[in-house]
Amino acid sequence: MKKLLTVMMMSAMLLPVSAQVKLWSKTIDKVVKEMTLEEKASLLVGFKFGESYTGLPTNSASQGNAIVPGAAGFTAKIDRFGIPHTVLADGPAGLRINPQRDNDPNTYYCTGFPIGTLLASTWNTDLVYQVGQAMGNEVLEYGCDVLLGPGMNLMRHPLCGRNFEYYSEDPFLVGYTAAAMINGIQSNGVGVSAKHFAANNQETNRLHNNSVIGQRVLRELYLKGFEIAVRKSQPWTIMSSYNYLNGKWTHENKELLTTILRDEWGFKGIVMTDWTGTRHTADQVAAGNDLLEPGNAEQIKQIIEGATNGSINMNDIDRNVRRILEYIVKTPHFRGYQFSNKPDLKAHAAIARKAAPEGMVLLKNDGVLPIRQVQDTLPHVALFGVSSYHFFAGGTGSGDVHKPYVVDLKEGLANAGFKMDQIITDVYEKYKDYGLLELEAEMGIYRGSSFHPRPRMKEPQLGQNVYRFAAEKNDMAIVTIGRSSGEVEDRKFSDFTINPDEKAMLAAVCHEFHKLNKKVIVILNVGGVIETSLLSEMADAILLAWQPGMEGGNAIADVLTGKTYPSGKLSVTFPVKLEDVPATKNFPKDYTIWTERDMSKARKATFPCFAETIYEEDLNVGYRYFQTENKPVSFPFGFGMGYTTFEYSNASVKKKGNDYVATVMVKNTGSYAGKEVVQLYISAPKGTLKKPAYELKAYAKTRELQPGESQLLEMTFSNYDLASYDEIQQAWVTDGGQYTAHFAASAADLRQHATFNAKQQVVKCHNVLPYRRLPR
Ligand code: BGC
Repeated sequence: MKKLLTVMMMSAMLLPVSAQVKLWSKTIDKVVKEMTLEEKASLLVGFKFGESYTGLPTNSASQGNAIVPGAAGFTAKIDRFGIPHTVLADGPAGLRINPQRDNDPNTYYCTGFPIGTLLASTWNTDLVYQVGQAMGNEVLEYGCDVLLGPGMNLMRHPLCGRNFEYYSEDPFLVGYTAAAMINGIQSNGVGVSAKHFAANNQETNRLHNNSVIGQRVLRELYLKGFEIAVRKSQPWTIMSSYNYLNGKWTHENKELLTTILRDEWGFKGIVMTDWTGTRHTADQVAAGNDLLEPGNAEQIKQIIEGATNGSINMNDIDRNVRRILEYIVKTPHFRGYQFSNKPDLKAHAAIARKAAPEGMVLLKNDGVLPIRQVQDTLPHVALFGVSSYHFFAGGTGSGDVHKPYVVDLKEGLANAGFKMDQIITDVYEKYKDYGLLELEAEMGIYRGSSFHPRPRMKEPQLGQNVYRFAAEKNDMAIVTIGRSSGEVEDRKFSDFTINPDEKAMLAAVCHEFHKLNKKVIVILNVGGVIETSLLSEMADAILLAWQPGMEGGNAIADVLTGKTYPSGKLSVTFPVKLEDVPATKNFPKDYTIWTERDMSKARKATFPCFAETIYEEDLNVGYRYFQTENKPVSFPFGFGMGYTTFEYSNASVKKKGNDYVATVMVKNTGSYAGKEVVQLYISAPKGTLKKPAYELKAYAKTRELQPGESQLLEMTFSNYDLASYDEIQQAWVTDGGQYTAHFAASAADLRQHATFNAKQQVVKCHNVLPYRRLPR
């Protein structure tokens, strides 16, 4: 025995001290095995510079700044394994970091791209991919690892304060746009965080509100966009939302984050929370919410204690840690990428300018546009509306980007060669300064705050004589109506309507210009849906420019002059009145931000109440409602005019393997070169479930077609895409029988039809996330 011991001791002395294992893709399991509990816990919680974590080295706050100032979050580093910090920054209209740094003469501006709604309105996934590529390049070159976007929540109601960050009222358009964006961003070897998962469709009381949704509607509308994006682009990360969903916070809901997201859809990345404080840490870990952001010391302590007392399963911790390590080995920080801090902002501005006009939607055009040069000069223009000068390039909050400049409409028109009425312009410029001063006095914090929604300035009334004078001196009037919104607050009901000041100004301008047979063009510089019936009555042309990013003014001028063809189509319905929207009944009409204490009171209150939002309208969202019920709208989903006309012919649907291929010939029958978006809506045969009259399943856009030129468009969809969610079978069910495909210029303009037969298909799912209200 003694001899054996001696031999063992000797051989142990001869063995080299085993080298510290370092992280790389093949050593993940080993690293997990060697990590202490403290190290594991620290990796599951966002890293806060300046906070001291039990048993781990302290870092000073300035080190956070040394990484990327202004980034929203970090993951922890563990030197002994070679695990670096990684950096997470907002999203989604471009990269959001601080433009200036202490004791540093350099600047770190990022491109302000058009808002998400505009990008979806391009219906051009190649272009969205290019925008993503450029955005992702800034993430890479500014030393970040993940862009916190795209925003993918469905536009359930026009007044959601963050709709500008989102894409559409239709889940297929959301899913395809998001997949293109994600693939574009991730082509740089950086990640995204697709957000906010799920059913985060309002800002009011967003931290506590319970979205109460039936299983079918949840699957078909609010989860479908995420499902498509996960299947088509495999985002590196997904951000769980702030709200409750059917009685449980999304970030601690295993059914959502594991059963549906991973088991059913095959998601492989990590889930992180939205930026909240401590919630139920143990439940979050168990649910598969791998990373708690922005993170705090208490959460680390809770994980350590939970593992020690058994309330958190060690296997769950290891599983989440493994997933975080799988994420880390992909990141630029891990790969040691030498970032330049010098992305090509000029090239990216050109992409922003190229994308913006494609998503602008021409709503009305009584022979005014495009504005042509007369003897080499463009017409003289009187530019009205405070938003022409106080321009909204994007929304506010975390979705705002620190951009190097914003080309407002005045500047854009001047760059294009328009001569503007100097007196009118001077009056507005002075008024803008005065208006800003007034706002600042009123609100205290206006200037320089990019988080607070930028308030609208009261529209000044210049007086009938001034309008008359302007009409005599100029060839036409351009009037901008603007709206801004942002995180934390929903838009107010009065934000939807044209207010009395705007109405009075527009009426006076139209009166004087029309008297002299001169035209009035309205530009909508908005982040979301507004009332347009009054504008349609008064104006000769309406261009919905959305919030078009930092090149916005130039892009609008490109469309007005016809330099770029306006090929955008609405990604959301423009209703006549808010009362027409079924979800209005259950959309909060009170804007107070509630505390936990208020909440317990509210839960006992009667409905409608914004402690809970009951999605009582079911599938009656957007065109699914308006078209099925044949209700009038101001502008239907998918609508958009151009400067030419298109004819559709030879529509057909053929089976190809497991997919269907729909084709249609599109011919430019007008006299202007342009692009056309064709939307494919499908009507299902009568089955057991009641369905909308038809639903979007695919779409395609032509290249720029010259007058007389044609292009055959091809659109693919699968049998599974045709399915509806049957709560009784807990399955996606495609009814067998004859379907009709409608090839459409908008949801209200179905041009060609083709029938095809589909086989019955049942894809079983888990019976999860049942409709549930909060206990009272
Ligand atoms: C927002 C997220 C954002 C995060 C980090 C949260 O308040 O809801 O969209 O990514 O902050 O800034």
